[in-house]
Amino acid sequence: MTIRLLRVVALVSACAAWSACDEKLSTIAGPTPNLEPTFASIQHDIFESTDSAGRAACTNCHTNVGRNPSGGLNLVHDLAYDQIVNVASARKPGATRIIPGDPDNSYLVQKLEGKAGIVGNRMPNGGPPYLTDGQIMILRRWVAIGAPRN
Ligand code: HEC
Repeated sequence: MTIRLLRVVALVSACAAWSACDEKLSTIAGPTPNLEPTFASIQHDIFESTDSAGRAACTNCHTNVGRNPSGGLNLVHDLAYDQIVNVASARKPGATRIIPGDPDNSYLVQKLEGKAGIVGNRMPNGGPPYLTDGQIMILRRWVAIGAPRN
């Protein structure tokens, strides 16, 4: 684990009560300063946006607008939640895209981290840039608290 990641872990642990921690949270969020561990925020700041570090929006490829969604995964507004939470991977047998309460075993998290054993490439395809450690930490937090539709 890098020193930087350890520092992020420490910050996130210190921020168990997220609302009391807005300033620190925006530090962790890096190139997406408004990113919070809610589905609406992840949809807006990760799935549908490029960020100031140059990371591609997921919906450049994961959309049904004008194409078939890459990897059989559609992340456009109003569809994304039902495409990921408790939904099987299209390509990795036995994997589930988001398992509420279990970020380590959620395949979408593994794809963003480039974990060993994923099928295909680390996401976003064509990266770097990938998500920062802090962005992934916030996504993990949303999964850990049960991946609510909020
Ligand atoms: C440049 C196009 C492109 C971008 C941008 C992109 N993806 Fe992908 N994605 C793909 C392709 C192609 C596949 C299928 C091949 C593979 O898995 O490597 C895929 C597969 C996936 C899968 C696996 C789906 C499954 O059911 O097996 C996940 C999860 C995923 N992408 C998440 C994301 C997320 C989250 C982002 C944004 C941070 C993103 N991708 C950005 C092209 C892209």
